[in-house]
This record gives sequence, C-alpha cells and structure tokens, in this order.
Amino acid sequence: MKALRCDQTPAWAALEASFETSGKHFDLRQAFAADPQRFASFSQEAPHVFADLSKNLIDDDSQALLLALARQCGLESRRDAMFAGERINRTEQRAVMHFLLRNPPLAQEGHAQSAINNIANERAQVHATLDAMLSYAERLRDDASITDVVNIGIGGSDLGPQMAVLALEEFANTGKRFHFVSNVDANELTHVLKGLKPQSTLFLIASKTFTTAETMINAHSAKRWFEAQGGQDIGRHFAALTTNVAAAKEFGIGTTFGFWDWVGGRYSLWSAIGLPIAIAIGAAGFRELLAGAHAMDEHFRTAALERNLPVRLGLLDVWYRNFHGFGSRSIAPYSSALRRWPAYLQQLEMESNGKRVDMDGQLLPFDTSPVLWGEPGTNGQHAYFQLLHQGTAVVPVEFVAVKRAAAHLQHLPEHQSKLLANVLAQAQALMLGKNDVGGHRHFPGNRPSTVLLLERLTPASLGALIALQEHRVFVSGAIWGINSFDQWGVELGKMLASDIEPRLQSGDLSGLDASTSGLLQRLRA
Ligand code: F6P
Repeated sequence: MKALRCDQTPAWAALEASFETSGKHFDLRQAFAADPQRFASFSQEAPHVFADLSKNLIDDDSQALLLALARQCGLESRRDAMFAGERINRTEQRAVMHFLLRNPPLAQEGHAQSAINNIANERAQVHATLDAMLSYAERLRDDASITDVVNIGIGGSDLGPQMAVLALEEFANTGKRFHFVSNVDANELTHVLKGLKPQSTLFLIASKTFTTAETMINAHSAKRWFEAQGGQDIGRHFAALTTNVAAAKEFGIGTTFGFWDWVGGRYSLWSAIGLPIAIAIGAAGFRELLAGAHAMDEHFRTAALERNLPVRLGLLDVWYRNFHGFGSRSIAPYSSALRRWPAYLQQLEMESNGKRVDMDGQLLPFDTSPVLWGEPGTNGQHAYFQLLHQGTAVVPVEFVAVKRAAAHLQHLPEHQSKLLANVLAQAQALMLGKNDVGGHRHFPGNRPSTVLLLERLTPASLGALIALQEHRVFVSGAIWGINSFDQWGVELGKMLASDIEPRLQSGDLSGLDASTSGLLQRLRA
C-alpha cells in the first residue's frame, strides 16, 4: 500500500494543531523546571555516540506525534526496503546499499540478517574488493619511497575522504602527507604540486563516473606534470577509484579499485573512495571505521523508533523545518580535527534532501532540506555566534563534543578543558539567555541545540557518527517522500558551463541572455 504523503496524514494535522496551541510557545527553561527527568528522557546512548536532545523544542506530546507521523508515512517499510536492496532510488532505478559496504563477512556474523540474504552476491563482491584495496593500502604504507598521496576528486569523491583523513590524524602513523585537489581552479593543483617530486608521489584519481569535468582536467594536468618532471611508471604512481574501469584504463591507469552504481557519491567513503583513509590509518583502522558504521546501521535497522537516534534526529529536523519554520541548521564540531565536518554534511544533507518534488515528480507544498552551515568551535564563536544568540532568526545548532583529546594533545590538558567548557557554555547560553533591560545586552534564550558526544574520536566512533547522519537524512527524506539518492539539480549548471566555455574563445553570444552576454564580453575584453 502506498504511504500517505506526510502533510496528508492525521499525525501532520495533529502536529499542526499542537504547534499552534503549545509548540510555538514552548519554553526550554520552563520545560526543565517542570521535569527533573528531562535530560534523561531526551538523551540517549547509541553505538559510540551519546546524544543530548533535551535542549530541543520538544516534549513528550510532540515526540509522540512525530513518531506517529513516521509510522503513518511508512518510515519502517522504507527503511526495510533499503536494507533489502530494493531499487529505492527510483529516478535512476538503483538500489541504495552503502550499508552493505560495512557489513561484516558472513562468517563473522553473530546473528541472522535475513533482510540482506538476498544480496549475498553483492556482499561477496564487496569483501573481495575491500580485501584487495586494503592489502594495496598496507603495501603502500610500507613503501617508504612514496611520501605524498594526492587525491584528485570532487564532491563525494573528496569531502568524505578528506574529512576522515583529517579527523583521524591521530591514527595516521605512516609519515606520509595527504593532499586533496578538487577545485577546477588551477590554484589548488599548482599549490599541491609545488612541493612534490614525481618519484615519491602517488595520485589517486577518485571519481565514481570518471567523467566529472573538474576531476578529469586535474587528473590530466597531474599526469602531464608527472611526465614533464621525468616521472616514470604511471602504473605505480597512479591508481583509479571508480565504477568506470574502462574510462580509467583509457586514461592510462591499470591499477583500479571499483565500486558499484548502488553506492551514491556522497555515501561512498566506505568504498574504494576511502582508499586515502585506508592508507592513512591502515587496514585494521579502516575495518574499525566500517565496524562503527555497521553498529549504527544495526541500531537504525533494529531499535524501536522511540529510542532510535537517527529516527529521533530526522523527526526533529522535520519538526523544525515544517512546523517551526527554521530554515537552517548550524553545525559546530568542537574539535579542530573535525574541521571539514560541516562541509561534509552540507553535501550529505543538501544534495540528498534539497528537493522540491516527490517520488513521482509532483511538486511538494512544504519545505524540505534546511541549509547547513558552520565552522569548528571555538572559531565560530568569534565570527557568527552573535547571530545565533541575538539575531532575528532561530537557528538550531548541532554541536559535536569529544570527551578525551587525541593522545598527542594530552600534554596540553588545559586546551581540552577550555574546549569542553566552551561547548557546554554555548549550548547553555543559547538555551538560558540572559535578561537585560538594556536591549543590546539582552539574550532571548530558548534557542535549541543538540550535543552529540563522543568518548574519543576514533575510527569506530567516526564511522558511527557518519552513519548516524546518513540515516537521519534518510529519515527526513522518507517523511518528505522525496528521493534522497539522486542529484539532478547539479546537472543544469554543468551543461551550461560546457556551452559557455567555447564561447569564451569564440565570442559567440548568440542565444545568451543579456546578463550572461554582458559578463562574457567583459571577460573577453
Ligand atoms: O555533481 C555532483 C556529483 O555528481 C556528486 O554527487 C558527486 O559526489 C560528485 O559530483 C563527484 O562525482 P564523481 O565521483 O562521479 O566524479
């Protein structure tokens, strides 16, 4: 049976009514005063992550209605369809099985997972590829003649590996340097190549399609540089991470690690795209990353909706977007190692859920993905937190805090205690506010935030944290009834750029709008 569109369910109507009568007047300070158990009821453990949701604008009633909404929208059957390998990415007729990349081999499994028995074939391929990729990573780690690894890729072929390599620096003990080149602006490639020698450099050309314009031009320029600098043996110094093995071969690359069309670009760091991570932290570390994510997969797949963290976060996102009307969410990792976390989440959530039509292409009458933005704390405090505390828009903030600093930072304990004090203080200030008659010094408070707390930033906890986000995006996308797994919205600009580029040479202005034509003429003058 087809599930009802979310805004046509009884739960949606009940949420609207509840928002009007109490939701919009909800006050966090009163809620804490009235309920001494609030922290306990609105926080929870999930694999590797403790989440405090208590400073959000929810109570038992709104949470119960949101859970009813999830059930009435068929969230559980949508989730089960993904885990059963159904082609839920309908516009591309593809299954969505990034979870399979972190599924342990059958032999290691302690319990039956009947849901995925019918995709055993894919699972075997995953493990064969993973083993090959990890033994390549180990060989490279032992190869002292390679000092620099340059990943050339963009979007999902850049953001995930880059974020994770930075995040897991504590576990990277190879002595190798990692560089990430994504932008078509020659500035990036040139800057990276400046300090490198061809004989000690490995280029990883990371592209699911092996057609992305930025990656192809960067890869060709890198290859030309390699040859011009006297580099020998492309086979040893270039490897491709792609589903398009034929195109990689045509480029001249023999060493290829493949993956499959059922892995979306923004969900691909668990696949061959994760090779830079595997080189950095080693095969065992990479398997821990996968295991952490798998633990979160199992939590999402099996926990009751009431205590299911991705479900609770995704429902909160719907509550804020569609009832409170909050247009954005600020991402605040209080960990410099997680400095690319906001950028990573931007692609994950906005490319997945920045959609305006339902599965059948019908226009939706309600809002979908919020805008995500942010910087690591404490830096953001000295830039835009002014707006978070006293601006006119309410922006829910999602903090990430890490209890124990990395081992190599423990000789400076006072930094960690200041960092942790600041994350607590900011969440507290947003909630409590401060009364001041002076206007300028008044803080309204009642501003919502979530704290995601990790004991340590390890491969396993990072894996779980990422999978948590993937699944929460799944949840809000499923409620909205959109296809979270395509990205048609990026195509038009690509197409127009290919039309415009030759015009920059030829000066042909035919058919262009007046603004584009005016700018193009100035660029040619
Ligand atoms: O243009 C968007 C996009 O298709 C992303 O979805 C993807 O992660 C990125 O480009 C890179 O694609 P590819 O890995 O195929 O080069």
